[in-house]
Amino acid sequence: MEKRMLFPQVGGFLHGGDYNPEQWLDRPDILEEDIRLMKKAGINSATLGVFSWSVYEPTEGDFHFEWLEEIMDKLYENGIYTILATPSGARPAWLDAAYPEAMRVSSRNVRDHHGGRHNHCMSSPKYREKVTIIDRKLAERFGKHPGLLMWHISNELGGECYCPICAKRFQDYLADKFDHDIQKLNHAWWTTFWSHRYNSFDQIEPPFDHGERSIMGLDLEWKRFTTWSMNDFMKTEIAVLKEVTPQIPVTTNFMELYYELDYRKMAGELDVISWDSYPGFHNDREALEETMLRTAFHHAVMRSMKREKPFMLMESTPSLVNWQPFNKLKRPGVHKLASLQAVASGSDTVQYFQWRKGRGSSEQFHGAVVGHDGTENTRVFREVSEVGTLLKKIAPVAGSLVKAEAALLFDWDNRWAVNDASALSNETKRYDNTCINIWQEFRKLGVEMDVVPSDADLSQYRVVVAPMLYMLQPETADNLKAFVQDGGQLLATYFTGYVDSDQLCYLGGFPGDGLTELFGIVSEEIDTLYPTDRNHIRFEDGTEWEVKDYAEVLQVKDAHVLASYMEDFYQGTAAVTCKEFPTDDKCGRAYYVAARSSADQMRSLFLKMLQDAGLSVKELPPSVDYSTRIGEDGIYDFYMNYGTSPVKVSGVAGTDLITGGSVQGELELETYGVAVIKH
Ligand code: GAL
Repeated sequence: MEKRMLFPQVGGFLHGGDYNPEQWLDRPDILEEDIRLMKKAGINSATLGVFSWSVYEPTEGDFHFEWLEEIMDKLYENGIYTILATPSGARPAWLDAAYPEAMRVSSRNVRDHHGGRHNHCMSSPKYREKVTIIDRKLAERFGKHPGLLMWHISNELGGECYCPICAKRFQDYLADKFDHDIQKLNHAWWTTFWSHRYNSFDQIEPPFDHGERSIMGLDLEWKRFTTWSMNDFMKTEIAVLKEVTPQIPVTTNFMELYYELDYRKMAGELDVISWDSYPGFHNDREALEETMLRTAFHHAVMRSMKREKPFMLMESTPSLVNWQPFNKLKRPGVHKLASLQAVASGSDTVQYFQWRKGRGSSEQFHGAVVGHDGTENTRVFREVSEVGTLLKKIAPVAGSLVKAEAALLFDWDNRWAVNDASALSNETKRYDNTCINIWQEFRKLGVEMDVVPSDADLSQYRVVVAPMLYMLQPETADNLKAFVQDGGQLLATYFTGYVDSDQLCYLGGFPGDGLTELFGIVSEEIDTLYPTDRNHIRFEDGTEWEVKDYAEVLQVKDAHVLASYMEDFYQGTAAVTCKEFPTDDKCGRAYYVAARSSADQMRSLFLKMLQDAGLSVKELPPSVDYSTRIGEDGIYDFYMNYGTSPVKVSGVAGTDLITGGSVQGELELETYGVAVIKH
């Protein structure tokens, strides 16, 4: 396999983070010391300029970049590359004073005052003009700097704006989408209900909190529009950078499963996917293992947006954050564990927010590699340095890829639609968690699983699980049918195929769009259970699953019934079915699980699907997580122990890149230990 190194000039992993020298320009001694400490900690990259606008351009049109040039030069002379951000994530005060349209309007129709960050109007022509000017200047001045690795667009793009400019663009967006025919929109949004018909596009307002909140189509299009609008803003930044520096890759830092933006729609504009990971380590709700497995899912979401190259962990804290309800320290060893988990999941970088703690303002107590003491004599500094050393030891892994033959469909439009549907119970819908729990169950079996949208190309997978796929995009049903007819093992659940992409219900039986034929069932009713209610389902071999929250009542057409309900008025009716699609050499299967059971109870069904698909599983001790990257020189198996005592993993063979030793048979992992086995 070809090596897909993100940054060949670096020759391995990036280890770095957000660096804010503009806060220390009056302390050259500290800036000097930073370089020494960075080298000591094995840092080879710094993300500069994320929030530097008011230093770059203290008054309108008066630009100062000399300080940045000096710092980039010095870093580069010392083997430290630069990721340079565009500064649009926060605006100088003069800009808002001169151009109030740059300030966002909230869903209560109130314009923000100046302050904070990440709160500009995405549509404001003036803001775009100002951003474009400064981006161009940065690109012209630094585009050829040998230390420049990449552009970091803005920072954590997010939020919504309800200002008049955005509202008008929303109307234009809708007019385009519905062919300038308001009756098409009225039909798609079912506006005759409650007499909500519109006569023209200019009557449509965004879904203000105190406005129209009863049209699901409006809510959904507003979400789609916000993604479109944010993407459009990002594209104006990318356009100027690509015009001046086509050779420099661009990224923007995503935030986990950030609800308001469909990142998949933005991914296509970016050369590399990067994200900021801040799990609530050691919280009082769950074991570390659960926190880590959820983070593994987040990594998989990011990785799956560009399967053909590694992604980047753009930010993580070396110790603690300052914005969680309780800002607990990462326990000794956990920094290494979390950093290598990112690498195991396909990241070619481990980066931090932040290099050095600032003295004042809201992030003064956020974790950093260097604290207010300013020395290397700290636990955090030592742990970061250890990661620096480890990344060098495992450098051959950089550029290799995670390859999955199973996929989980997790769809942003579907998330929005499920949550907005006036149905089921808002307390227990839990679409995200349902998907995450299933994904984790496969992970515990040592199976790599991509996380993809419902219009993804499924031909590369042999197992696909599509939980609660309530909304079907135009292509989705055909995609699923083709997958099964081609021998794929597919599993869908209750609440599948109720609505189309406008959120109009399918007529003629759920799951719609031809999926009743694919699964051989019709879902006649769905029962929402109270949190204390339980039902059970029993398989032919006597296995039982407990049912909670949701139970659909099925009519079976031509599927095999694998399990039936044990209680209530639908006792004895089908709860799990399978329809087979045999061809000469393979047999596709469409499983339908009509009720909610925990993912661990569903394991036996997952195992059957994996076995039929010819995918192997691994026997792992409960606290051990496993992931594999495939490179041109070998396969790299990562074993990570999230438990608080040492464990042994059997059946391991190869060379441990961290210890340099050979492992034949049994691998011993200490508490929070990690091994990277090449074979
Ligand atoms: C991120 C942000 C950083 C910093 C960090 C603190 O969301 O991009 O600038 O604020 O959080 O955890």
